[in-house]
This record gives sequence, structure tokens and C-alpha cells, in this order.
Amino acid sequence: MVCLGNICRSPMAEGIVREEFRLNGIQIEVDSAGTAAYHQGEPADMRAQLELQKHDIDISDERAQSFKTEFFKEYDLIFAMDHANYRDILRLTTNEKERRKVNMLMNLVSPNANISIPDPYYGGSEGFIKVYEMIKRAAEVLVTLAKSNKLKV
Ligand code: 4NP
Repeated sequence: MVCLGNICRSPMAEGIVREEFRLNGIQIEVDSAGTAAYHQGEPADMRAQLELQKHDIDISDERAQSFKTEFFKEYDLIFAMDHANYRDILRLTTNEKERRKVNMLMNLVSPNANISIPDPYYGGSEGFIKVYEMIKRAAEVLVTLAKSNKLKV
């Protein structure tokens, strides 16, 4: 799960997806990163933590890290939160196998629509509610795909 700072959207995505899979009893390894390193080592934004606490998801252990090219080998699927993240990740790919792993998260919900999850950093708490709702829908689709063995890897 990749966004810009790895302190708002992608740590929320990591927490929500992990919880959705745990609730469904499916093993998954999920991590998150940012295309920028400004917030490296910082915990998730308090507004992101508080929004997830409302849904009994604890991301207080999250620490921001920047996206590394090794992730193309370590992970089967790489999801970008918005267009800029998608473009920045694709720029780091070196072959078709890597490129095939990268998609925008909301394409799980609306295939090929390339909908961005809006950056909530400079707004109020309602932005974080919207981020939760969007990611939750994507996480549910991800679990459905996993259950029917349709997760393309
Ligand atoms: P995120 O949000 O990409 O969802 O983690 C942001 C966090 C920090 C900044 C921008 C977006 N920033 O400019 O510091």
C-alpha cells in the first residue's frame, strides 16, 4: 500500500486490509510505504490513528518508510493510493513483471476508472472518514478475490 508520506492513507490501508483478512481467516503479508521520505520513522498521523480506532484497528506501531525497489521482488501486488503515487512507482519499475504488479487501489472497486483516494493531510477529519470508507470497500473486494483465488499475482 503506497501513498506519498506513508503517514495517512497507506498506513490506514495497511491496517484496514490486514484487519479485513484477519477477520476472514486468510493469511496475508501487507506493508505500506511512501514515495517521499519526508516523514521517515514517524508514526501515522494522529487523525489517521483516531479514525481507525473508531473501527477497532490499532496502527500505533506503524512507522513511515519510503518505497524501495526491492518491494517489487518482495511483494506480489503493489497498490497506489493516487495517480501521482502510481506514476512515481511505475517510474521505478524495470520490467513488465514489475509493472504488472502495480495498480491503483480503487481499481479493485471500479476497474480501470483510476480513481484516486484524496490526500487528507491538509484537510479536516472528514477527509479521513472518506479515506476509511474508500479503502474499506477496496479491502472487501481484495478479500473476495482472495477467497475465490482470483488475486492476480
Ligand atoms: P499521505 O499524506 O500521502 O496519505 O501519507 C500526506 C502526508 C504528508 C504530506 C503529504 C501527504 N506532506 O506533504 O508532508
